[in-house]
Amino acid sequence: MRVPENLWYPVLESCEVGRKPMGVERFGQRFVFWRDADDLPRSHLDRCPHLGASLSQGKICKDRLVCPFHGFEYDVNGQCIHIPANGRGGKIPKGMVLRSFHLREQHGFIWLWWGETREAYPEVPFFVQLETGWKHRTDIVEWPVHYTRAIENQLDVAHLPFVHRTTIGAGGRSLVEGPYVEADQQGIRVWVTNIRDDGSSPRSQKELANAAEGKEPGLSFLFPGLWLLNISHRLKNLLAFVPINEQKTRYYLRFYHQIRIPLISKLFEVMMGISNRFILNQDKRVVLTQTPPNSCDARQDRLIGADNAIAHFRRLHTTLIERSESVDQ
Ligand code: FES
Ligand SMILES: [Fe+2]
Repeated sequence: MRVPENLWYPVLESCEVGRKPMGVERFGQRFVFWRDADDLPRSHLDRCPHLGASLSQGKICKDRLVCPFHGFEYDVNGQCIHIPANGRGGKIPKGMVLRSFHLREQHGFIWLWWGETREAYPEVPFFVQLETGWKHRTDIVEWPVHYTRAIENQLDVAHLPFVHRTTIGAGGRSLVEGPYVEADQQGIRVWVTNIRDDGSSPRSQKELANAAEGKEPGLSFLFPGLWLLNISHRLKNLLAFVPINEQKTRYYLRFYHQIRIPLISKLFEVMMGISNRFILNQDKRVVLTQTPPNSCDARQDRLIGADNAIAHFRRLHTTLIERSESVDQ
């Protein structure tokens, strides 16, 4: 599967990985995740180099990942260190090693470095506004869509009065001012104002830029797939888009808040979870119908001014893909 490379991808929530090997699909490939004796997450391609069995069906034994088929044992770096059929002092053939991945565990996610091995790795991409003082609850859903359409849906500011007419798009504010967008290699920031169309002209980009100054953007996006909705100073929605394969994307939907009283906090989280899932389902009905599924192939799409953020996403995403391909050659 073609995705931008040499980037950190959030691939799982921390709590999803334990001392049992776990098999998941990401980027169109099978991975096994597990935790070593120091509780550090580990990951390899989920294929034993002996006869190709799935290691996620195996077990962890004293810091070793054991294949369920012939009991070969692999250390935390994926090196085979015991072949039962060859005996205790037996030889380990060269190349009996798993393809392993560099991981980080931060902000409640497991991040996987997808790309070439480096001496030093950059920081994982995350929103500074969420660094400290927040509580959150996560919902996980999977949609049969390509990640590009999933992301663009959340950068689309013109669909609200139509798709979300009964929820966040109520009020018929169909006229999009701008949006005013700032973008760079790291991500995209969008200041959104939708108004009722009373015949007057929307504000110019210059006026919108002045109005945005010093204000937190309504929507922020960080490559390769982290999105933030600024509901208010103390309430945010975060989405992590995780590419499973060409046809499927996993969404980690997090609601961030600062409510300290445990019972009220729990109740609020449950209510917001229900509401967020409902709103996301309104999107799902239409996003599933978009063709072609991968927006990289959608050269026939005719974007309008309101799609400013989507246009930026397409441009930057293409640049990242091209950069990955030039490294691969
Ligand atoms: S296939 Fe894994 S040990 Fe044989
Ligand atoms: Fe939506």
